[in-house]
Amino acid sequence: MTPPATSPDRLRPISAATPSTVSDATRAAPPLLQVRRLTRHFGGLIAVSDLDFDLQRSEILALIGPNGAGKSTTFNMIAGTLAPSAGEILLEGESVGTYPPHRLAALGVMRTFQHNCLFPGMSLRENVLTGMHGALQRPLWKVMLALRAQREAEARAWQYADELLEFVGLADQRDQPVATLSFGQGRLLETARALAGRPKLILFDEPAAGLTPSECERMALILRQIARQGTGVLLIEHDMPFLLPLADQVVVLNFGQCIARGTADEIRADPEVIEAYLGSRHGAADPAKNIPASTGSANVHPPSADSVDNRPAVASTVSGATSGAADA
Ligand SMILES: Nc1ncnc2c1ncn2[C@@H]1O[C@H](COP(=O)(O)OP(=O)(O)O)[C@@H](O)[C@H]1O
Ligand SMILES: [Mg+2]
Repeated sequence: MTPPATSPDRLRPISAATPSTVSDATRAAPPLLQVRRLTRHFGGLIAVSDLDFDLQRSEILALIGPNGAGKSTTFNMIAGTLAPSAGEILLEGESVGTYPPHRLAALGVMRTFQHNCLFPGMSLRENVLTGMHGALQRPLWKVMLALRAQREAEARAWQYADELLEFVGLADQRDQPVATLSFGQGRLLETARALAGRPKLILFDEPAAGLTPSECERMALILRQIARQGTGVLLIEHDMPFLLPLADQVVVLNFGQCIARGTADEIRADPEVIEAYLGSRHGAADPAKNIPASTGSANVHPPSADSVDNRPAVASTVSGATSGAADA
């Protein structure tokens, strides 16, 4: 792992809406994501049953539970790759449970994959640009009539791609092919690509898996900053020292049922959770003691006022921050 990707002071601001714009726009709005009695059967097996939770803007929600608990099934239903058997998924009040992934992407729902899903023959910058596909699309006649505007839009897209690469610490490698990256760097690049779509809601499937400790620290800072700028973050994660200091809300699944929901500290103290998940996983006499308590927020600078389009951008400077994940 090369040092640039793990040094927080290398993160630079990228274009973003001002904080007041975000809060004014969202104050009266319905919750970003509402999951209501969400259920999925596979034949006779109930993988997820009557699941309820809300995710607000600027919130990080972690889905945890032992293997087979229903985390991936829930995640895939929210990402649009699996249809619910029953229940509802509402995005800003709109029922989106039957929408395919591309339609959800157009509404600002982006995801990353557990095993990086990148274009290996393309450069880092080109990979990030693919994440802007929806935003750059224009009918040909519009391109002909507005060549100058189109060129300006493309220039802004390139600039934004570079800002995102800088945000995740990969700016130095922007012209290299993806094949030169380590797994952890690939994960950071996937994050930059997901951010290129200017998500309102971003889904991470085990963002810390396969990362070095310093990459984990950087990823925690990135996730915090993404949330701080108004985006909702939903993640599945097994790495408790990574996620508990990070998550505002934890939803614990077991055999498809929600057995607990609360802050990380509430979850750590819940006997049913310890029994069902933390206890069995850590095998300690008092497993809650092995889980770090929540830490304060990272020290982050406000985003710059420039905006490439009218949807809030999601990355900014993260500087001199310390993270609970650093202790992992
Ligand atoms: N495509 C599928 N077909 C049949 N059963 C499935 C399928 N996907 C998941 N399951 C079952 O649903 C349950 C929940 O799985 P999953 O959501 O992958 O759990 P987790 O991600 O928490 O490990 C498991 O019993 C699993 O075997
Ligand atoms: Mg899974």
